[in-house]
Amino acid sequence: MRTSILVLAPEGRDAEVIGSVLGEIGLETQSCLDMAALCRSLGDETTALVLSEGALGDVGPLAAWLEGQPPWSDLPIVILTSRGSRLAGRGRQAFFQSLGNVTLLDRPLHREALQSAAQAALRSRTRQYRTRSHLDQITQATSRLEERVADRTRALQAEMADRRRAETALLQAQKMEALGQLTGGVAHDFNNLLQGIVSCLAVLEPTVSDGTPRQLFEAANRSIERGAKLTQSLLSFARRQMLMPEATDLGDLLSGMGPLLERTLGGQIAVTIEVPPGLPAVLIDRAQFESAILNLVINARDAMPAGGRLSMTAFVATAGRDGGGDLPVELAPGTYVAVRVEDSGSGIDPTVMPHVFEPFFTTKPVGEGSGLGLSMVHGMATQSGGGIHIDSTPGAGTAITLYLPSTSTGTAMPDAPAADVEPGAGRTILLVEDDAIVRMGTMALLENLGHQVIEADSGEEALAVLSDGAEIDALVTDFAMPGMNGAAVVRGARQLRPGIPALIVTGYADTPDFGEAVRLLRKPFTPHQIADCLSAILPE
Ligand SMILES: Nc1ncnc2c1ncn2[C@@H]1O[C@H](COP(=O)(O)OP(=O)(O)OP(=O)(O)O)[C@@H](O)[C@H]1O
Ligand SMILES: [Mg+2]
Repeated sequence: MRTSILVLAPEGRDAEVIGSVLGEIGLETQSCLDMAALCRSLGDETTALVLSEGALGDVGPLAAWLEGQPPWSDLPIVILTSRGSRLAGRGRQAFFQSLGNVTLLDRPLHREALQSAAQAALRSRTRQYRTRSHLDQITQATSRLEERVADRTRALQAEMADRRRAETALLQAQKMEALGQLTGGVAHDFNNLLQGIVSCLAVLEPTVSDGTPRQLFEAANRSIERGAKLTQSLLSFARRQMLMPEATDLGDLLSGMGPLLERTLGGQIAVTIEVPPGLPAVLIDRAQFESAILNLVINARDAMPAGGRLSMTAFVATAGRDGGGDLPVELAPGTYVAVRVEDSGSGIDPTVMPHVFEPFFTTKPVGEGSGLGLSMVHGMATQSGGGIHIDSTPGAGTAITLYLPSTSTGTAMPDAPAADVEPGAGRTILLVEDDAIVRMGTMALLENLGHQVIEADSGEEALAVLSDGAEIDALVTDFAMPGMNGAAVVRGARQLRPGIPALIVTGYADTPDFGEAVRLLRKPFTPHQIADCLSAILPE
């Protein structure tokens, strides 16, 4: 360590002598002219002071400097006293003590005494420097610790925010699930009620006279239609819609919807449809998809009362293991065809956004919105194995993207509208339905079509009828029944009568896929629809 001992000994050659005595043991000294010069040279690197008592005039600035030393520092001071003044009194002693780390050396000076006092001072100062460096290390370690605590706190806060987001999403999912259960159950039971009314009215139709009775009859039918649409939307939301997925070319389907969309949107909205060639086919229920697009388009129209732009774009999107970009998190890895419907309308307020998929949530005036549009679209997309994403800026517009799973199956042309079906007569049909009213209505309807009907109120009873050897041409069964469900009835019936034509009527989606061998019919069905299905399954 380079030493710097400040010497203030202005009398005679004192400073020079002190410098040379200390120089002998390798200590460097710096002689100061007066107290002011000494104070200017003071610093943390000053090793010690050697002061002659006679030079201690105004020690105020020195005392102030000593007082202001950092905690680790206690500067060693060697004072060369003169015998006379040393005896001057206790006040003088107290003054020396007040300077702190003071060693008194009496004159006449002995070389060894001075050298050993200087070395003791140097050792003391060296220990202080060691303390200083320990303190520095502790300070640095503390600040590193504080940084790490701050980093960890930030990470914890981020983790807590993530957890809060996940909890909110889970709560939302649970709420939607519970709502789905409820609406699905209500819609299913409602479909049965509607089915009872549809069948009974259909049978009564020929007996209704013209004029007011017929007008009332038609009004009743219109109410049924509205009820059926409502239950379809509810089932879609509940993801229990009976989907009939087919490999479909979305390009063809969307282009085909162009004229309908333009009519729906009116003249004030400019429509563009962009579909790149060669999109993979998607597996969807065409009717449900069209109704989803129509819902999105109507929402866009309602968001642009003064006109605007609507664009519909299809593209391919790939979901990886961690989703990706804007893709809905629920998408399984795979290839999807996305359809984005984008408008330049009012946008969706952030406070409204969390609710838009809830059934019956609407911001539209009473009578203008039922709040079932987006819940139906959401249900259709997720039930089809896809998803939906909304991007909206209030005041600037909304883009809603549907993701639909692609398939490598080739596409088929949509079925041609069924021709009017002749009520082929003379067949015997085993009708299985647990609801007495629905059974009575359906039976009357089938009889109206010219068939004989054997009724059974459960699967077990139906199988008993078959075991008894009754002549049956086809089986028409409800799906959701206590005990044996429709699928079990068909399986049991086919064990007794291999290949017997079967039609399952259901209000639910939770119907297993039976392939080509079994037809499915959605409740509520019209006489025309059931006649159509029967003519498809019954051999000529
Ligand atoms: N394109 C859009 N721009 C602005 N807001 C939208 C848009 N689409 C949906 N919304 C908001 O989401 C709400 C719910 O939409 P949803 O389609 O489910 O019901 P609705 O349109 O109100 O009624 P319904 O479709 O049953 O007639 C709307 O009331 C509206 O506030
Ligand atoms: Mg809507």
